Amino acid sequence: MSTAPAGAAAPVLEIRDLSVSFPTETGTVSAVDGVSLDLAPGEIVGMVGESGCGKSVTAMSLAGLLPGSARVTGSVRLNGTELVGARESALRRVRGQEIAYIFQEPMTSLNPVLTVGRRSARCSRPTSGCPGGRRGRGRSSC
Ligand SMILES: Nc1ncnc2c1ncn2[C@@H]1O[C@H](COP(=O)(O)OP(=O)(O)OP(=O)(O)O)[C@@H](O)[C@H]1O
Ligand SMILES: [Mg+2]
Repeated sequence: MSTAPAGAAAPVLEIRDLSVSFPTETGTVSAVDGVSLDLAPGEIVGMVGESGCGKSVTAMSLAGLLPGSARVTGSVRLNGTELVGARESALRRVRGQEIAYIFQEPMTSLNPVLTVGRRSARCSRPTSGCPGGRRGRGRSSC
């Protein structure tokens, strides 16, 4: 689904030939294979497909939220800045500021004992300096 007006301005987001695979014990899982799209300012794009076709992995790859095992190739440019392979510090500046998510599984991505306000505050706190394990959990739960 696309709502781009005709003659739209330069894209905010340019995705070119994005592919993501995961090495697993039983072989390599190809989760995303050659996705390309442009997103113009003010444009809304929806991804539609059967379960497991790679919608979430595509979205998570934009801000580098995939597990370290993921192999990501291709290009994701946000306002001209390449995000694939970008440093963690650069990605942290983008997350929540320029690219934000509403995760699809509230039972696993939200904690029912925290208010939305406290949850949001936790997500906006930088996680650098935490031991590796905590950093990983913090990022994946936000
Ligand atoms: N960490 C991972 N390791 C191995 N395979 C993974 C991993 N994460 C996702 N996958 C696989 O990548 C594929 C795409 O998954 P994804 O979650 O993007 O699907 P989806 O289109 O969002 O599905 P749904 O509509 O059910 O949310 C699936 O085959 C999934 O099993
Ligand atoms: Mg999904």
